[in-house]
Amino acid sequence: MNQDAQRRAAAEAAAAIVESGMVVGLGTGSTAAHFIDALIRRVRDENLKITAIPTSLRSDRQARDGGIEVASFATVKQLDLTVDGADQILRGSLHLVKGLGGALLREKIVAAASKKLVVIADRSKLVDRLGGKIPVPVEVVKFGWESTATRIEKLGGIPVRRWPKESDQPFQTDGGNYILDCTFGPLDDPARLERDLSHTIGVVESGLFIGMADMAFVANASGVETLTRKGS
Ligand code: 5RP
Repeated sequence: MNQDAQRRAAAEAAAAIVESGMVVGLGTGSTAAHFIDALIRRVRDENLKITAIPTSLRSDRQARDGGIEVASFATVKQLDLTVDGADQILRGSLHLVKGLGGALLREKIVAAASKKLVVIADRSKLVDRLGGKIPVPVEVVKFGWESTATRIEKLGGIPVRRWPKESDQPFQTDGGNYILDCTFGPLDDPARLERDLSHTIGVVESGLFIGMADMAFVANASGVETLTRKGS
């Protein structure tokens, strides 16, 4: 199985645990897109009845186009399950780095309102330490973003405003904010960094998801492994 097939296998394992009547959070990214495809097939072929809350305009469009009923927090208080990808998954605790796809704020809001967060990924995402090779994405308000960046530097990060290649504009989230990709190196205490970032003026939300994921389906070349969170 190549990497995309592994992502699809993890997504299909998660789609299999969705039950009729559930309100389901739909993540964002290539792995989450496989999950949404698998759900669309179950809705079409098995008459699965679900309501979904997507975490991005992309996932919203994919779900609606495929015939999934989409709701919002105007009518939904709690979701039964959210299934989402991740950029890194910490072995054991299942703490996550998310947001390289740019949807971390809506992803965190939807995950926080869910009884259960299930992560889907290929094996390359599973790590013994968060950070290191990838930055921690941090969503910040546009006003004074340079000042927010200076405060993040004081926490030990090197923030770079996300700017898509060949674009004449910086990246903007669905909420109209900027993302600072912040290199901190390997993280000794991701929970503390998450707390520090959440107390930083100008920061809307960070891509550190601490103690939120309950379970992960992680695929490698030979199959899909089910991981459950260990510890608090
Ligand atoms: C988007 C995310 C994605 O879940 C994360 O980037 C993983 O994406 P992919 O499945 O394409 O590797 O956090 O904000």
